[in-house]
Amino acid sequence: MKSEVNLEVETFSAEESRILGEEFGRKAKRGEIYCLDGDLGAGKTVFAQGFARGLGVMSPVDSPTFTIMKQYEGRLPLYHFDLYRIEDPSELSEIGYEEFFFGDGVSLVEWPERASGLLPGDAKWIVIKSDFSKGSDYRQIRFLTGQ
Ligand SMILES: Nc1ncnc2c1ncn2[C@@H]1O[C@H](COP(=O)(O)OP(=O)(O)O)[C@@H](O)[C@H]1O
Ligand SMILES: [Mg+2]
Repeated sequence: MKSEVNLEVETFSAEESRILGEEFGRKAKRGEIYCLDGDLGAGKTVFAQGFARGLGVMSPVDSPTFTIMKQYEGRLPLYHFDLYRIEDPSELSEIGYEEFFFGDGVSLVEWPERASGLLPGDAKWIVIKSDFSKGSDYRQIRFLTGQ
């Protein structure tokens, strides 16, 4: 569930979106889950790269497409999920997702709708949208929380 819009930002380059992600990463707290919502190529992984930077992750963050989840070490552990290729939420159970969602680190989840009922209601949402009438590098990025 997502209800309240807490922030709405417009970015005009990938680096601007990374910088926004970095601010979120700097403030992130243990146990938080951020759902990254948007079409293919919206900028979810770009946002995740900035987020990781803000969390102090030194290794490069790429798309975890073939692994469901990649773990990084920063100020807190970072669990970067990409659920694009999962066919059933039971695949998340197989990797023991609870240990990550409800563990000591911060989770970023690309394609969160594929986790269906497994995400807790207090997960935070980052919703990224293009608007080609405003240019190919334009993105509207909204931060939503709710229960
Ligand atoms: N304002 C912007 N914010 C984020 N990405 C942008 C922006 N403008 C252009 N891009 C480009 O869009 C692409 C986003 O890719 P990616 O983050 O992998 O998307 P996703 O993970 O949502 O499928 C990158 O090639 C990036 O350089
Ligand atoms: Mg991606």
